[in-house]
Amino acid sequence: MSDAITAEGLVKKYGNVTALDGLDLSVPSGTVLALLGPNGAGKTTAVRGLTTLLRPDAGRAVVAGCDVVRDAAELRSRIGVSGQYAAVDEHLTGAENLEMVGRLYHLGAKRSRKRARELLERFDLAEAGDRPVKGYSGGMRRRIDLAGALVADPPVLFLDEPSTGLDPRARAQLWDVIGELVEGGTTLLLTTQ
Ligand SMILES: Nc1ncnc2c1ncn2[C@@H]1O[C@H](COP(=O)(O)OP(=O)(O)OP(=O)(O)O)[C@@H](O)[C@H]1O
Ligand SMILES: [Mg+2]
Repeated sequence: MSDAITAEGLVKKYGNVTALDGLDLSVPSGTVLALLGPNGAGKTTAVRGLTTLLRPDAGRAVVAGCDVVRDAAELRSRIGVSGQYAAVDEHLTGAENLEMVGRLYHLGAKRSRKRARELLERFDLAEAGDRPVKGYSGGMRRRIDLAGALVADPPVLFLDEPSTGLDPRARAQLWDVIGELVEGGTTLLLTTQ
């Protein structure tokens, strides 16, 4: 089985804080890896380093066949990411946010719209989908951000603390969605405390 994600000796320093001190990992295609660690362990830094959101100081990593530094643009088109803090446009509705993500992945208007509706349904946001995100609760924001990571059906998915802030029902739904994705061959790296 080939690896969808590999990192060798990844280092990231912030001034004199070493956030990543030679991280090695490999995630075979179609499997799930959970990074477990306390606050400040470097989980978010690892996700950011593997998704081109920051440039490692040393080491190398390959995701979906792309080097995180050399092939950053191509890599971004092959992955989905949901960060620890929801990255959504407050002034757009939930549906518009997801459609925008679809357009950024070049899905086309019609497919983006269809995909947005499917995911709103999947994440229990069908009712709220036409309201601006600025009126969403914390858990609703979390869910719209998670939905955004799935818009393009990426083969490799990164979710930084996906279940934080979700109520038990939303949490169960999230694990269902994740189970289906992995059954369908998606590779997933997630973090949790
Ligand atoms: N932008 C930054 N500037 C300076 N230091 C940072 C920055 N981002 C992270 N750090 C430091 O790097 C270390 C790892 O942080 P990181 O956010 O990766 O941890 P984490 O495991 O995600 O923690 P949490 O469970 O709280 O989300 C911490 O010591 C943190 O203070
Ligand atoms: Mg974090």
